[in-house]
Formats: sequence, structure tokens, C-alpha cells
Amino acid sequence: MLQNRCHEFYEDATHNYGPIARVAPNVLVTSSPEVWAHVNSKPDYKRSDWYYNACRIEYRRDNVFSQTDNVKHEQRRKQMAPGYSGRENLHLESSVDKRVEEFVELIRAKYLSSEAQVIPMDLAQKVQYLTLDVISSLAFGKTFGMLQNDADVDDYLRSSEEGLAAGNTALALGVSWLAHAPFIGKFIAPSPNDDTGFGKMIAACFRFVDERAANPTDKRSDMLASFIRHGLSGDELRSEALEQLIAGADTTSSGIRGALLYIMTNPRVYGKLQQEVDVAVRDGKAPASGRGIINLAEAKQLPYLQAVIREALRVWPPAVNIFSRDTPPGGDTIAVKGENIFLPGGVSIGYCAYGLHRSEEVYGTDAKVFRPERWLNSDPDKLAAMIRTNELVFGHGRFQCLGRPVAQLELVKTIYEVL
Ligand code: HEM
Repeated sequence: MLQNRCHEFYEDATHNYGPIARVAPNVLVTSSPEVWAHVNSKPDYKRSDWYYNACRIEYRRDNVFSQTDNVKHEQRRKQMAPGYSGRENLHLESSVDKRVEEFVELIRAKYLSSEAQVIPMDLAQKVQYLTLDVISSLAFGKTFGMLQNDADVDDYLRSSEEGLAAGNTALALGVSWLAHAPFIGKFIAPSPNDDTGFGKMIAACFRFVDERAANPTDKRSDMLASFIRHGLSGDELRSEALEQLIAGADTTSSGIRGALLYIMTNPRVYGKLQQEVDVAVRDGKAPASGRGIINLAEAKQLPYLQAVIREALRVWPPAVNIFSRDTPPGGDTIAVKGENIFLPGGVSIGYCAYGLHRSEEVYGTDAKVFRPERWLNSDPDKLAAMIRTNELVFGHGRFQCLGRPVAQLELVKTIYEVL
């Protein structure tokens, strides 16, 4: 974990020892899509305290992602799910469109190279600006303004990177619990009273939420309004809004960055994708530059674009955390490749992202290669197994990513518009 490479060690473990491998005395990881789906569907498994308590952001306070009590988690998820859907959040797609427009405008205005001059641009950083602006506009109805200012406004980006790195180090050293220990924890956990780092970002986020909550006449139909309508208020509302920033910005920017990197470094794919985009524009099936942002229905008609995104999320899964679950107290028997395997009680089992998404059994001998065509040319049974496995990039069942539709809008629109 200190080397930021434990997902690679998990892959080695499952490669060497099989689809369920032990990586610590009471900790297993699995590269089997069936086992991971089973663990996430069966109600008597629960999220492990040792991992999810370490994912809390605030002192002793849980959010929907860190909650390990199944009943409380389900209740909170019910309150939040409608806000993530287009039904209760009428401006979801148009909000993403505005940010993607600003992203493209920023590149056009400041970073177009010509024959006379090369203007370098840190694309990775601009993508982070984009995803933080999208999530702040969805979460608070107000953007951080990173794209408009072409800057890490108030150091939010640096704060979140520092916060995630500190959390990772504390978990690696086994001292995360200190931040939630009575008395001393208060001095260690980030606080909105801090002048720098993660605490400063928390303060800004709480300010945004409080402004909205204090204005009951604000009739916007957005995420925050939906959460309030479904009973969230006060500290709970603040915590969930903050959690969205952490869950939604870094993951999606990793996804977009991974996809663009694989496109740029595979000229064959780049050429084919560019051609699909150009033909769609020529035939009037998708908007030309400056004529609005592609909508979801239009993007669905571009099979190669869809395949590129699936393939990029497969070879470069943005969330590779262990996401451990505790087995039921009496243990559980799981069928793996026709063999019954008993998992004892009191053990954790987690996700081996690389082992699962680069599995030769599911994807064939070139599983490690970026080849979007595999999503277009495979036989139907094999394709169904590939899709089932690929969907696990966003988790599964009652723990599946709530922000998945948002992430997919951002991915498809950004990649199309950049091309
Ligand atoms: C490509 C981008 C993304 C990926 C790969 C991703 C992946 C995941 C995964 C694997 C989980 C399940 C974690 C677990 O099993 O404990 C999850 C949960 C979650 N994600 Fe995402 N995510 C992405 C984008 C987003 C966005 C944009 C948002 C917010 C707008 C978001 C909000 C959440 C929330 C709130 C949860 C917790 C759900 C629950 O506990 O019931 N995610 N995500």
C-alpha cells in the first residue's frame, strides 16, 4: 500500500494461488467474478470495519460509502438513490454538458498548438478540473470554477490528493483507527477548522451545503434538493455531499485519463475512433464542433466509442481498492469452477481488480492488451460473460456505485468532444 501497488500484489497472489487467495492471516482476495458478485449479493456478508472505518472522512462519522451496518447502509442508500437519477435531478445531463463545453473551450482558448508554436498542456490536470467542476455543480448546484479560472481554486485538488494519500498511508501502517479513537482522534482527523489540506476543502463543502439548506425557497430540482426531500439534513447532508466529491471526482478523472492515454498510444484505435466520430458528424448523427454536446442517445449509436470506454475501464479500472467484506459468522460455501469452497466465518474477502478484469479465462490470452474490438467481435455467450465481469468495475448489487450514470455521461461526452 505504501508503494501504491497493492492491487498488483493481489493480482500476483491470485495468479499464483488461484481465484481465492490469502494475502494476510484473515484476509482473502478474489479474482473470480462469480465469487465477487456472490459476496456482494448475499445479505449476510457485510463491509469490513477494518477497511471501511479507515475510509471515513470525518471524525467518527459514516457516510453511505463507509457505513458497515447493512441495515443503516440500505436506509441511507434509499434516501440518496433518487438524487442520482435523472428523474429527480432534471439538470443532470445539462450540467455535465456545460462543464464539458467549458473544458473544450479552455483547450481552444489557451492550448491549441499550431505549425508556428507548440503549446504544452497538462491534460491530466485539466481532466481533474473537469471532474471536480462536474461533481461540485451536481452536488452543490455551484461549480468550484476550476475550468473557468484554469487553476486549482483554493487548492481543492491538492487538498483532496493530500487527504487521500494521508488516508492510504494511515491504513497501510495500521493506524487509521487513531483518527477515530476517543479524545485523540479529534486532533488527528481532518477538521473544517483547519486552514490547509483536506480540512479546508471540507469547510468549503459544508459552506456550500449550509447556504443551500438555509434557503428553503430555493426550488432547484438537483441532487441536494432530492437528498433534502428524502429526509437528509444537518450533519448527514453535509457528510453525504462531501463524500460525493471524494467518490466521484478522482475515480472519473482516472477513467477519462486512462481512456485518453490508451487512445493516444494506440494509433490504430485512435484512427478508427476518429473516423467513427467524423462519419457521425458528416451524416448528421452527432453534433459537429461548436454545435452543442453529444447526448446519450446519440452516443449509444457509436459502437466503437462504447467499446473503447468499456475496454479502457477494463485494462485501467479506476477503483482498485480491496473493498473487503466479512464472511457470515458461520462461514459460507461457494462454488468456484464446479468446486465447492468453504470460507470460514470471521474472515474478510476483498476485490482483486486486476486479476478479475485482466482474466485470461474471461477475455482470452490477450487479456492484458487494450483491444476494443473484443467487445464487437466475440460470440454471444462469451460476450455476456465479459459484460458481467466488466460491470464489476462499478461494484455490484446493493453496494454498486451510485454515481455510475454520472461517470458514464462524463466519459462518453468528454472523449467524443475531444475527438
Ligand atoms: C469511473 C468512475 C467511477 C468508478 C470506477 C466508481 C467505482 C465505484 C465502486 C467500485 C463502488 C463500490 C464500492 C464498494 O463496493 O464498497 C462505488 C461506490 C460509490 N460511488 Fe462510485 N465510481 C465512479 C464514479 C462515481 C461518481 C461520479 C460518483 C458520484 C457522483 C460516485 C459515487 C459513489 C457512491 C456514493 C458510492 C457508494 C455506494 C454505496 O455504498 O451504496 N462514484 N463506486
